[in-house]
Amino acid sequence: MTIPYPSHQNLQAIAAVTPPSGAARPRLTFLGTGYLGATYAICFAELGYDVLGVDIDAPKIEKLAAGAVPFHEPGLDELLTKNLAAGRLRFTTDYTEAAAFADVHFICVGTPQRPDGLAADLAYVESAIVALAPHLHRKALIVGKSTVPVGTAEWVEQLVDKHAPETAEIEVAWSPEFLQEGFAVEDVLRPNRVIFGVKSEWALGMLHSAHKGIFDLASTEDRDVPVVITDFATAELVKVAANAFLATKISFINAMAEVCEASGADVTQLARAIGYDPRIGNKFLRAGLGFGGACLPKDIRAFQARAQELGVGEALRFLHEVDLINNRRRNRVIQLTAELMGRSYGPNGPDLAGVAVAVLGATFKPHSDDVRDSPALSVVRKLHRAGAQVTVYDPEGMANAAREVSEVTYATSLVDAARGADLICVLTEWDEFRNADPAALGDLVAGRRVIDGRNCLDPVVWARAGWEYRGMGRPVSR
Ligand code: UDX
Repeated sequence: MTIPYPSHQNLQAIAAVTPPSGAARPRLTFLGTGYLGATYAICFAELGYDVLGVDIDAPKIEKLAAGAVPFHEPGLDELLTKNLAAGRLRFTTDYTEAAAFADVHFICVGTPQRPDGLAADLAYVESAIVALAPHLHRKALIVGKSTVPVGTAEWVEQLVDKHAPETAEIEVAWSPEFLQEGFAVEDVLRPNRVIFGVKSEWALGMLHSAHKGIFDLASTEDRDVPVVITDFATAELVKVAANAFLATKISFINAMAEVCEASGADVTQLARAIGYDPRIGNKFLRAGLGFGGACLPKDIRAFQARAQELGVGEALRFLHEVDLINNRRRNRVIQLTAELMGRSYGPNGPDLAGVAVAVLGATFKPHSDDVRDSPALSVVRKLHRAGAQVTVYDPEGMANAAREVSEVTYATSLVDAARGADLICVLTEWDEFRNADPAALGDLVAGRRVIDGRNCLDPVVWARAGWEYRGMGRPVSR
């Protein structure tokens, strides 16, 4: 059937469909209770849906069922407790139960970078479908949310055809997510847009019912949630294109930071000045240590790999450059360390033997305990490799960081980390570091030297307190 792709003004015209389970609102499962799936499951229960979170990781499911969120995300713990108590939210490892329960199954499993190259690994998507499909005995909709290479939805459809009973008439749709860690609850409850990649009126109707809670919340707040109704390929591409754009914007300003460093200009003022142009905008224009996390780095790599497969690798060659610019920023901190400590920088990097460095920040950004592909931890490793004695402190990410990088020392507070340090590196812009008192810290350290890897400190205030300050893309003397 051809979908007429109505604009969001025509949402009312979408045919209402009755959930196959007979429930008044579609019942939902979220397959995979990692960052994405757990957040969605909890927030959709909050919107009033009956929700089942599904994962093969039994300890994780037990934890969630007991009311504990396995990661740090502001506001999520309260919503989990509230919705478990309300009886709208349950968790299971049983795919048979999931199949019997729901009308709409959201695929939320991870799609990490493959160990043998740049491409995304779809093994978890495949195993979720293979585990679910044979147990589906009435009509249901399987919706992809995971970030995937374009073409995956068609492949999922084939997998479903192969593994689900024919009589169940299972349909597939794609609806990417855009949640940012640290703001995930808001991003799910109040998205700035939703994308429905569908092939049938029934799938569109079911997807609409499964998001009605979001539209209803918006209308009570006198807001509009734009909906883009489209084909599978476009829906899949929306996500990777958005992340490629964001990564490019960050690397653009970091490339400008390199030019600023060579010419004595200040990238923070440059960013402010160009950001006033509404065509450019000031968001995602913060120069610093660059992007990390579980999404942007691996998504731009998987996008390049997929483009190569499709014969349009050249179109995305710039993303390779985006990646290189991003990684160069991490080395810049090592260069600055050598410079501030008066150590020479040879072909094997600098010799930082005996230098006591306090690293403030381990997570890939503030308001998260996530250290996956964290630029801060990458710098910690490089400092350690160069011989520095590294002490790390992070308000939320200590446990995860210690698991990833066990060879350095972890302090229990900012003060502990700073005591006796020759140099402080601020690598994640937590408020605790932004608001630190340079005069008080100055009394604790062995040397008043600071590298501001996120340009989050006021250079004038720190210099006034006697610190030698180095920012990213900022002039040395102020
Ligand atoms: C990102 C996308 O924003 C989100 O839409 C998508 O769903 C998942 O990937 P997230 O990984 O949570 O979200 O982090 P984001 O806030 O985008 O930041 C990514 C990285 O870029 C962080 O390391 C951050 O410190 C860095 N960053 C961000 C900058 O270096 N400069 C900026 O101006 C903005």
